[in-house]
Amino acid sequence: MRSWLDVVSLGWLRFDRTTIRHVLYGIIAGLTLSITSTSFALEYQKRKKEHIARQYKPRPIELRSDEIIKGVTGLIGNTPLVRINSLSDALGVEILGKAEFLNPGGSVKDRVALKIIDDAEKQGLLHPHTGSRIFEGTVGSTAIIMPDDVAEEKVKTLLALGAQVERVRPASIVDKKQNLAKQRAMSFGVEDSLSDHAANPRSHLLPTPSSTKPRGFFADQFENRSNFEAHFEGTGPEIWRQTNGRVSAFVSGAGTGGTVAGIGQFLKSMDEDVRIVLADPEGSGLYNKVKHGVMFDRREAEGTKRRHQVDTVVEGIGINRLTKNMELALPILSDAFRITDAEAVSMSRYLVEHDGLFLGSSSACNLVACVKLVKKMAWRDGQSVVTILCDSGNRHYSKFWNDDYLQRAGTPIDMHIIEDLLSP
Ligand SMILES: Cc1ncc(COP(=O)(O)O)c(C=O)c1O
Repeated sequence: MRSWLDVVSLGWLRFDRTTIRHVLYGIIAGLTLSITSTSFALEYQKRKKEHIARQYKPRPIELRSDEIIKGVTGLIGNTPLVRINSLSDALGVEILGKAEFLNPGGSVKDRVALKIIDDAEKQGLLHPHTGSRIFEGTVGSTAIIMPDDVAEEKVKTLLALGAQVERVRPASIVDKKQNLAKQRAMSFGVEDSLSDHAANPRSHLLPTPSSTKPRGFFADQFENRSNFEAHFEGTGPEIWRQTNGRVSAFVSGAGTGGTVAGIGQFLKSMDEDVRIVLADPEGSGLYNKVKHGVMFDRREAEGTKRRHQVDTVVEGIGINRLTKNMELALPILSDAFRITDAEAVSMSRYLVEHDGLFLGSSSACNLVACVKLVKKMAWRDGQSVVTILCDSGNRHYSKFWNDDYLQRAGTPIDMHIIEDLLSP
């Protein structure tokens, strides 16, 4: 009996058994050859990559091909997470700092400034190239109205960047009448738009319906939710990826509260067990708020404050009122540490000597709080404590990094403070 394989006809073409067998052998041989050569090629590529990898150790900031950043805003964020070797080795715990001083503006606030402006443009509150002006009060990281006792180099930086700086006596931000940045924003361009003002209920900007007229925009980093979101959507997820989700605690100081609230809320949403901890300088009321539910500082109660708002050489963190951004942090804060000026100064000098890290005052505060937390928890088994390295020491030459200034202020410069803290 003849099977269908004996003869195959395709129209007028007829193939006998031998021809079919040869064709099948040909196909199988071709397939085998192609699979083998592909495997060889893949294996070759793998070995080549391994060879290259052996030659070049991976670096924290990797340059990849076809990766051109578009403009200065592309440089904001995606900062490295650096292991603080001296503290980690001494404690047996990974102390990791998010190197925010590498942002183009030199601080963690770059992210917030960008997000506030982006959001305002998306909402139609700000229009580029209309001569509009952004107003903000600051100690120098974000904007243009600043107390007259902040480090001089911060003023110089802002001026060099084209900002107009108005220096004022330090005033309590509890006193809303003294919110000069808001007042200036309200009166900017007022001649053109007074009639429009009542139409818009948003209190922090002067409304101008036209997208071509200049307007004053009060960035309001303390109350503006874009601040929180910059960290919830940016810094928090970056930390989660960089640690592969291994975070035992996140420690941060608070000025507006945006950093601790945004990152803290994000990390908590990923892992309920992450501890969120506040580092608070002298003169701030936040420590008492977290520990005792009330917001006043010991010195304030005794009436011995030297400065109206926050009595410390540490700039950028510490506050005596509850901002909207800080309110978002309170429910997730499990602990707080009060950090003295002497401890912060000591930490900054210790880090230069041991790690070659030249950091600003709030970063130093954060790291003291990391050490205190590890000690309090008796952690020694490689847990990961993440914090923010907010800005560099070069923003602080005239005060925090000025030994004469510190001596006059009665603040000791003593590395033993940190050495004692680290000792078992
Ligand atoms: C140097 C520095 N560190 C830390 C902070 C605190 O960040 P946040 O306002 O998100 O609480 C600020 C805020 O201005 C700052 O300028």
